Amino acid sequence: MNLDNELIIVKTDNNKYLAVVDITKEFITNEGKFHFKDITSIPSILKSSTGQEFKIYRPTFKEFILNMKRGPQIIYPKDISQIVIESNISSSSKVLEIGTGSGALTLYLVSILNEKGSLTTVDISKTNQRRAKKTIERYLSIKEINEEYNLKFINQDLNDFNFSEISNEIDTVITDIPEPWIFFDNNKINTDIVWVSYLPSITQVIKTKECLESNNFENIEVKEVILRDWYLNKKIARPDNKLISHTGFLLSARFIKFD
Ligand SMILES: C[S@@+](CC[C@H](N)C(=O)[O-])C[C@H]1O[C@@H](n2cnc3c(N)ncnc32)[C@H](O)[C@@H]1O
Repeated sequence: MNLDNELIIVKTDNNKYLAVVDITKEFITNEGKFHFKDITSIPSILKSSTGQEFKIYRPTFKEFILNMKRGPQIIYPKDISQIVIESNISSSSKVLEIGTGSGALTLYLVSILNEKGSLTTVDISKTNQRRAKKTIERYLSIKEINEEYNLKFINQDLNDFNFSEISNEIDTVITDIPEPWIFFDNNKINTDIVWVSYLPSITQVIKTKECLESNNFENIEVKEVILRDWYLNKKIARPDNKLISHTGFLLSARFIKFD
């Protein structure tokens, strides 16, 4: 089996590493090393010369985005799951994402949308979009994203973005940029839309909420997701010592075009 270029997790007792198989190289860590060419199947277990066990398997989405190389801060899996609910996304949704960034959310959306759905993603940074595109191609194990994926990258400042050109193709807007309200400087919503903004600071939430209100949005909700892992073994059962206390707020709203 040719496993060259496969995306893998290498799991030891203490760590998880994301790696790409390169049969010409060794995989080296402080915990020992092995040669990639010794991987004959995935999943499998290899032992280093020092006896260290390496468990090798394909990553889940969560393992991939938490361990991948990234540029801007990603949206964490706990928030992505809530964004999907708040934005009422199904496999046939037509989504506009503002703020491609490292592509964590983009990747998840691409993975769940089918041929009836589509994703248009806007970012001012060409570098970030290029990295995000590579990340998606790497995770999906494809050479190049093509039309089959219904994914369109728009490299543009939101200040110059003209929503009316694509409004008929969009039913959901998700933003992860510092100033989502600038969308409304040049654009108006007049079709049914679910809007979700991910924002780190409550002052950004307040400003966005005011803007959505003045643009006749309904059902405005603000929340944050606090997730607590638990430590469990035979004698101990308690919340984990570590807690990510704050990532971002979720602001969701709907524009409903009443007759
Ligand atoms: C925090 S990142 C988004 C991360 C992304 N959601 C993820 O999960 O990987 C924010 C992105 O918004 C982009 N951005 C900021 N202001 C913008 C604007 N006015 N127009 C378009 N993109 C903007 C930045 O270039 C950056 O890539």
